[in-house]
Amino acid sequence: MEINNKRDSFGSKIGIISAAAGSAIGLGNIYRFPCELGDNGGAAFLLVYLAVVILLGIPVMLSEFVIGRRSQSNTVGAFQKLVPKSGWSIVGYMGVLCGFLIFSFYSTVSGWTLEYILKAITNSFRGKDLATIEQEFIDFHNMGWRNVLWQAAFIFLTGYVVFKGVKDGIEKYAKILMPLLFVILIILGIRSITLPGAKEGLVFLFKPDFSKITGDVLVGALGQGFFSLSLGMGVLITYGSYIKKNDNLTSTAFSVVFADTLIALLAGIVIFPAAFSFGVKPTAGMGLVFNTIPMIFNQMHSGYFFCVIFFVLLAIAALTSTISLLEVVVAFITEQHHIKREWATVIACCITLLVGTFASLSLMENSPFAKDGYTVFGMMDFLSSNILLPLGGLLIVIFTGWKLGKSQFFDEVTNGGALKSPLKAIIFFIIRYLAPLAILVVFISGLIN
Ligand code: PFF
Repeated sequence: MEINNKRDSFGSKIGIISAAAGSAIGLGNIYRFPCELGDNGGAAFLLVYLAVVILLGIPVMLSEFVIGRRSQSNTVGAFQKLVPKSGWSIVGYMGVLCGFLIFSFYSTVSGWTLEYILKAITNSFRGKDLATIEQEFIDFHNMGWRNVLWQAAFIFLTGYVVFKGVKDGIEKYAKILMPLLFVILIILGIRSITLPGAKEGLVFLFKPDFSKITGDVLVGALGQGFFSLSLGMGVLITYGSYIKKNDNLTSTAFSVVFADTLIALLAGIVIFPAAFSFGVKPTAGMGLVFNTIPMIFNQMHSGYFFCVIFFVLLAIAALTSTISLLEVVVAFITEQHHIKREWATVIACCITLLVGTFASLSLMENSPFAKDGYTVFGMMDFLSSNILLPLGGLLIVIFTGWKLGKSQFFDEVTNGGALKSPLKAIIFFIIRYLAPLAILVVFISGLIN
């Protein structure tokens, strides 16, 4: 059996940022963020979300980078290397499990983007009113196996890129396409806020009603923050292990958090003004994005052209995220079990498709995999985003703050003293005290709820 011992690394600084941002920016920003915000009272949620991202996002991300680069290992191996023969590798195993779980339901929605590319190319939204577009979205869910087929296609696509390795795959694709997504969101945002009645959407998004901040909102915002930044399950430990020794980890973390939050905000600015203008309820959930966006294009000059590009870019944003999910699992299987990368990819993709099929089929009306409004899809999402990711994040900051300790942390973020890193002390303080406390409080309040 050939053992793949040589570790790939990212070729350039922009390569790391775009690969990590590629993982972070995805359906979480454009699809999940508006859903959560709509369900949780609008601007109040946004406020808590921003606090989570700034206060917890950067420290947790930096912790993951430090653990990954210091150990030069996958998410399980990292803990085994840094503290041999301890129980800490459980955090890594949890991450691998979470990777499978997220990839399984995430690939469902990723598959929809392929269906919507087809709809866009065949000009199928043209001239249709909201009720028709909404009905077609429901009809599509009810074609359960069509969903599974698209899901399988998406998993295959992800497998293909991961198969080709870190440098040739992930870096090359992410670098060009994420900035393009940003541009198209700006264009869409301008159209959205100039629609009649758009102002109400902006008020919903930006004028907080503090009475809406409940335990549910806190838990939702925490889960969304971790989900959107790809934190808590070792994606960024794995990517951190590919970062070169002379790269600046702190500035990389800042850039990724900034880019991810900007795209989420832009998505909000695109969706809510348009949703209010067309009469889509902010609590419409899955339909919020998939029904509102085609309606915007129907009101736009060159709408056909932009609609095709948008759904292609959305699919690519999803792809750079699924690549990172699969990469965690593949790096774990190849390095811990000495199985060739190719086989590890095939095994991981097959298991994901098997589990993911239940997620897709659970969204059909009268599905045997759903009960009283609870779907397998929704439960996988809740379990991974609102429980496993924050729990993983909690253990990661406790590990960094208390086990790895200050001197190793400082050594890694300053590249052995070569960089000044003026924020290192305050970030370490947050990692050691504030972040564990904040995650714990939100987490427990959520469990009690
Ligand atoms: N951050 C991705 C998104 O916002 O779409 C989803 C994701 C990727 C979550 C990787 C978690 C993860 F480890």
